[in-house]
Amino acid sequence: MRVLVTGGAGFIGSHVVEALRAGGHEPLVYDVRADTGADVRDPVSVARALAGVDAVCHQAAMVGLGNGVADAAEYVSRNDLGTAVLLAAMAEAGVRHLVLAGSMVVYGEGRYECPRHGVVRPGPRAVTDLDAGRFEPSCPRCGAELSPGLVGEDAPADPRNVYAATKLAQEHLAAAWARSTGGSAVSLRYHNVYGPRMPRDTPYAGVASFFRSALARGEAPRVFEDGRQRRDFVHVRDVAAANVAALETEAVPGVLAAYNTGSGEPRTVGELARSLAAACGGPEPVVTGEYRLGDVRHITADSSRLRAALGWKPQVGFEEGMREFAEAGPV
Ligand SMILES: NC(=O)c1ccc[n+]([C@@H]2O[C@H](COP(=O)([O-])OP(=O)(O)OC[C@H]3O[C@@H](n4cnc5c(N)ncnc54)[C@H](O)[C@@H]3O)[C@@H](O)[C@H]2O)c1
Ligand SMILES: [Zn+2]
Repeated sequence: MRVLVTGGAGFIGSHVVEALRAGGHEPLVYDVRADTGADVRDPVSVARALAGVDAVCHQAAMVGLGNGVADAAEYVSRNDLGTAVLLAAMAEAGVRHLVLAGSMVVYGEGRYECPRHGVVRPGPRAVTDLDAGRFEPSCPRCGAELSPGLVGEDAPADPRNVYAATKLAQEHLAAAWARSTGGSAVSLRYHNVYGPRMPRDTPYAGVASFFRSALARGEAPRVFEDGRQRRDFVHVRDVAAANVAALETEAVPGVLAAYNTGSGEPRTVGELARSLAAACGGPEPVVTGEYRLGDVRHITADSSRLRAALGWKPQVGFEEGMREFAEAGPV
């Protein structure tokens, strides 16, 4: 299969390219970072790149929390205008198979249960609570403590920041494209992806990258909130394998199918810091109580739908993956 991989020079895209090659496919890299300077927002260049292509694996995006609203126009331009230009060109070229890099950020806060009210949806956390060190969301009806669970694909979308809003819009655009062209679209909603070639610590990077960069400087990783926030860290090679599985599997035409893509082993951010510090032989993490507005407290996936539908299974365990990640050092 000939696959155009947008963002193919990036962290996840480059692993998708390798996995496709290993699977006997022909990946074509389309990335502003590459020599060709290929921008998904350029309709002429995209149309040219789609010639003879069987499927598109759309990884290109501006990622991370960034600088919030100050970056809004650039996020919308790269992520949503870029997706729209790409989809229009695919419709025109007759390319009917799309796999999209989705994200768990579309859910906002994960799934919570109140002992009295069952599943509830806490709103955005208030600055006054965060400043007072009250990080756990409480039941919006009775204020009781909630227990976090695994979020399924049918949970309502609730984007909590600019980046999240653009990732959700990408899915809506892809669904509209599938409906009107009869094409098939799969969104793999990645959880926290880590592994070799993860970008270094900019406002656009993930938490594992911040910790590793601190350790590389000989400093202790600084853990925000109280370190007990839960995430699902999934290895980049497993994410690449999910992309290949999605490209190789016949998908239902005319709709967008969404799959959580996580390891299925929730961890806390504190555990992540300790594990990386140990692997680097660095100083113990420091829990700072700082927070980033727009961060959610807990978000962990139920990735069983992906396992059932695509026969995918994560291969890289947390400890093993973190050891390799620590040893690779910042890129
Ligand atoms: N890293 C994670 O934990 C994570 C989690 C959920 C979803 N995602 C999604 O996965 C995808 C890949 O992210 P990544 O972590 O590899 O980030 P990355 O920044 O390493 O890769 C993104 C690539 O897209 C390219 N790009 C950006 N704008 C472009 C444009 N207009 N035209 C062409 N190329 C463009 C960049 O040059 C870069 O190489 C993104 O869609 C992101 O939203 C990542
Ligand atoms: Zn309640």
